[in-house]
Amino acid sequence: MVNTRITYMGLELKSPVIAGSCGLNREIETVKKLEEAGAGAVILPSLFEEQIENEIRELDEQSAMNSYPEAHEMMEYFQRRHVLDNYLQLIKDMKAAVSIPVIASINCYRYGSWTDYAREIAAAGADALEVNIFYLPSDPKVLDEAIRKEYLMIASQIARETTIPVSIKVSTYFENVARSLRDLSFTGIKGLVLFNRFYSPDIDIEKLEMVSGDIFSHHSEFHNSLRWTGIMYGKTDCDLCTSTGVHDGIGVVKMLLAGAQAVQMVSSLYTEGIGAVQAANEFLQLWMSSHNYQTIDEFRGKLSQENIKDPAFYERAQFLKYFSKYKH
Ligand SMILES: Cc1cc2nc3c(=O)[nH]c(=O)nc-3n(C[C@H](O)[C@H](O)[C@H](O)COP(=O)(O)O)c2cc1C
Repeated sequence: MVNTRITYMGLELKSPVIAGSCGLNREIETVKKLEEAGAGAVILPSLFEEQIENEIRELDEQSAMNSYPEAHEMMEYFQRRHVLDNYLQLIKDMKAAVSIPVIASINCYRYGSWTDYAREIAAAGADALEVNIFYLPSDPKVLDEAIRKEYLMIASQIARETTIPVSIKVSTYFENVARSLRDLSFTGIKGLVLFNRFYSPDIDIEKLEMVSGDIFSHHSEFHNSLRWTGIMYGKTDCDLCTSTGVHDGIGVVKMLLAGAQAVQMVSSLYTEGIGAVQAANEFLQLWMSSHNYQTIDEFRGKLSQENIKDPAFYERAQFLKYFSKYKH
């Protein structure tokens, strides 16, 4: 019998397959099923900074009191408190219902009052906190250095002031991805989640209007996470966890071989159901026994950039070779 136990951010997980942050994980019955299916941990849906701010703005506009600054402050306080209290209750309910680690999630886009929230989240019993820094650098006037600084400030402040392990979920929108990921890993965080998947805009060419792109990832999207997991393995001061495009056990094995400590799945939970986690775990166990691996440590990172003969496989050099084969 193979052993799929791992540690992620210091937490003991029965399996490296984690149910990533999404609305499904708000339901206790669903999370119980995920636990039965062998999920190593569950990440709750995020507490969204922007959503809280929008709700406060809407209330403010509706309110006849908005001419009084004190009224605005009071309303802001109560709205924040209301949203946070609901979230803290969700953490408590989930902790009481399952025994796998419950990871809370905050989705923010700037340095702010997150440390207070993080402290309360820890006190409510969350085993860890994933901070999704959802920042799209769309303003050409903003310098990359300023963006990097903001990320580093958020990460170090939350990691310093929170008693539970903190991971940061990032995008690839950095001028120097490797350097930024490495610097982030030295802020005291325990995990880096590669990567965020942004909402994608699309255009309806008949109605001439903006529409939402695919909500669920396509399998082929895993390559980017694979690339950076493979490149960053051994170069960070924290665990690497992958997110985006992992839909099955094959994807899980690939990410572990590239160097991931744990692997998140979301889209497949919606499209295939909770059974996707069980199938991924079963595949992982079968694959391990057919390759004579007893533990995940025996093969994690075996195909990372630092452990393969031709490191260019993860980089541009291979791209040139690949395309030079295709001639008109
Ligand atoms: C319906 C839905 C809701 C999501 N909600 C959140 C969320 O609350 N917080 C978050 O950080 N990511 C959220 N995500 C993003 C996922 O956690 C994940 O990063 C993304 O879907 C890529 O992984 P996948 O390819 O396995 O789907 C959501 C994704 C989906 C499809």
